[in-house]
Amino acid sequence: RRSFLIGAALAGGSLSAATVLWRSASAAESRDLQIPELIDARSHGQSLALKAQVGRTSFFPERQSVTLGYNGSYLGPTLRVHRGDDVEIAVTNSLGEDTSVHWHGLLIPGELDGGPHQIIRPTATWRPVLPIRQPAATLWYHSHIHGHTAEQVYAGLAGLLIVTDDEEKALGLPSEYGVDDLPLILQDRQFQDGSLVLPQGMMSIMHGRRGDTLTVNGTVNPVARVPRGLVRLRLVNGANARNFDLAFADDRSFHWIASEGGLLESPVERRSLTLAPGERAEILVDFSDGRPVTLETGPDSSLPMMMGMMARASNQVGAGRDLLVRFEPHGADMPVARVPDKLVAHERLDVSMAVRRRRFVMTMGMGMGGMMMGRGTGMLGINGHSFNMGRIDENVSLGDTEIWEVSGEMMAHPFHIHGVHFEVLSRNGSAPGIRDQGLRDTVVVQEPVELLVRFSQPAVTAPFMYHCHILEHEDNGMMGQFAVR
Ligand code: C2O
Ligand code: CU
Ligand code: CU
Repeated sequence: RRSFLIGAALAGGSLSAATVLWRSASAAESRDLQIPELIDARSHGQSLALKAQVGRTSFFPERQSVTLGYNGSYLGPTLRVHRGDDVEIAVTNSLGEDTSVHWHGLLIPGELDGGPHQIIRPTATWRPVLPIRQPAATLWYHSHIHGHTAEQVYAGLAGLLIVTDDEEKALGLPSEYGVDDLPLILQDRQFQDGSLVLPQGMMSIMHGRRGDTLTVNGTVNPVARVPRGLVRLRLVNGANARNFDLAFADDRSFHWIASEGGLLESPVERRSLTLAPGERAEILVDFSDGRPVTLETGPDSSLPMMMGMMARASNQVGAGRDLLVRFEPHGADMPVARVPDKLVAHERLDVSMAVRRRRFVMTMGMGMGGMMMGRGTGMLGINGHSFNMGRIDENVSLGDTEIWEVSGEMMAHPFHIHGVHFEVLSRNGSAPGIRDQGLRDTVVVQEPVELLVRFSQPAVTAPFMYHCHILEHEDNGMMGQFAVR
């Protein structure tokens, strides 16, 4: 059935000596960071087209991989939409298998959401008209076809969706796309002889698929030329399963300015930032000293020690710090761009408005033992139930505010809710730390968190999803659905 990627069962020591040699030689070469094409809805009459298609991509010179992309061979264009507009997006499926396109982070009614119920059959076109009514933010879109989301995203079906508005424009933040406003879609992938392969087997379900090669916008070992000044980076964790623990090699500080829901109230100076799958952040980095520097990630922190050891033994994750992208500042000194003191005012959700509390535990079924016995798919769940498209798990009233208490078994799980933004009320019983601030749509959970959620979008004819954003967990049942009416 699956023609676009050759599956590979990865086992310890399975790489041939020739592969290792070739790899270390080619790993030294750097390539220009690819920047996805920008499509602005206003310059296209509020009508955009995406075509999900099969293509060929050279991640390494003289090596080709069969991949998936929107309007291209891998990933998709960056779509920019403006608050207040209604944007039609015609999505055509040329894959030869079912797909769907979910607008992750967009606050729109359930039937426009692009989740597992909005299936686009082969050769069909889906034409949602998306009302853009939320503040400026870095969102993304990706396949969400139930049972195959992980494979389709891994093969390339993801892209960036930028919302902009007047309030953001008035701040004068760097916003020349591809110049001082750079999208960075962070992923890890597994290659054999330079061709993309899809890790198979129980481990890749339990851990989620991981790879030993990092890519940014589909580029391996990328270099980005940036102006000598303040640059905005829009970071998206587009990996199936791994966390990125981001820091610059020279330990420089940067300003975190936006979470998933959009701009923070004021910039936060930091030296490191962790992004779990599905999470985004915008940061401002000062390159005015002209010195080249790399953005790196630490060893994957998302797996508990035993699982991490197993993953490393099977070559699935690197053990040290890995380079994500090298920045080379060039040109004349830019006029000193200053980081604004204040960004936007938030209307805080009010905890006294919460009308009820629901509890969710992301469960790993029989645990490791059951998985090793090969119980097949559907062993993961939420509150012990595997996802069922015919079952509405929760019913919510439109306009209500609720507290959702979420925890996860065995490892860290990024919990995502469609159709809402929420605030983190508490983590492990205490007030949330710096990383939990801002409006979110995805949050890392292991120790229990309390989320304050307001349901402002209806989901009547089609439900919204909540799920773990480790895509293999989602595909294997760690997902539920709720109606809002
Ligand atoms: Cu980014 Cu339901 O997903
Ligand atoms: Cu989503
Ligand atoms: Cu999970």
